[in-house]
Amino acid sequence: MAHADLIEEIMALKKQRNAIILAHSYQRPEIQDIADFVGDSLALARHARQAECDVIAFCGVRFMAETACILNPSRTVLLPDAEANCSLEASCPAAELAEFLEKNREKNYYVIAYINCSIGVKALADVIVTSGNAHTIVANSPQDRPLLFVPDANLGAWCARHTGRTMTLWNGACHVHRLFTRDHILRTKEEHPEAEVICHPECEEVVRLLANHICSTEKMIDYCRESKAKSFIIVTETGILHRLRKLVPGKEFIPVQLEKCSCAECEFMKLNTLEKLRDCLLNLSPRVQVPEELRQRALQPLQRMLELSR
Ligand code: 13P
Ligand code: SF4
Repeated sequence: MAHADLIEEIMALKKQRNAIILAHSYQRPEIQDIADFVGDSLALARHARQAECDVIAFCGVRFMAETACILNPSRTVLLPDAEANCSLEASCPAAELAEFLEKNREKNYYVIAYINCSIGVKALADVIVTSGNAHTIVANSPQDRPLLFVPDANLGAWCARHTGRTMTLWNGACHVHRLFTRDHILRTKEEHPEAEVICHPECEEVVRLLANHICSTEKMIDYCRESKAKSFIIVTETGILHRLRKLVPGKEFIPVQLEKCSCAECEFMKLNTLEKLRDCLLNLSPRVQVPEELRQRALQPLQRMLELSR
């Protein structure tokens, strides 16, 4: 089917289903281009909560669609590819976290969970954070309880350094952000000496140390817009480059060149395609649903996050 016909079909289905299309900044450019809203995890969570449609077609990964279900349970939430998971989420199974908390019951940890985790982990957390609000929420966490940060050790270490708070870190990581090494950054910088290095906090510390600025995907847009620099080496998943080029015209955005593959792509994010988006709107499947009891428990730390990051 021709691209234009496919888009037309998606738009007709969207209308028929009274649906909106939400897309994360790592989605394929053609999905970003037809989405009603594109953003980072925090903006998408806010958008999903206030969505007044019947159906949310969530072009992202499972934990994001689950978050939409938790925040807005009366909507039908679709994930174009049911296999769109997240390696960071997988690095912290809820059963392992529950066992750890049980074994360390006397410590009475205040659990701070990065939104890239399952609903089971969210239900065990005291507060959720995203890369856009993590340092503020960590800074304002209770002083009278030890802090446990799950699942991303890199984001946790960055927040600890940034805020001066001591935290026990779960040993989880995102396989995409772990691809970047010091050598990759130095080599790319050698080819573009004038460019600023902008890095996502999910990257390893040796990489973060080379950055001019460290921030969430959404804040990258504001930073690059406001910076006097004309070119930027973007150290995160390459999907954001499309958004940066669209929203910050006249500046150059350079992906980091890796050895084995050309650049860092999240294969889970890229599972969603226009065809699968059309099919999910047509079939109202794959649909993401969450058990109500678990939803209630996961809702509290999510609401706490939204209140703390207004
Ligand atoms: P943000 O969109 O919150 O910056 O997170 C990046 C990410 O890895 C999402 O999977
Ligand atoms: Fe998960 Fe990493 Fe993919 Fe983000 S980029 S969805 S953290 S695997």
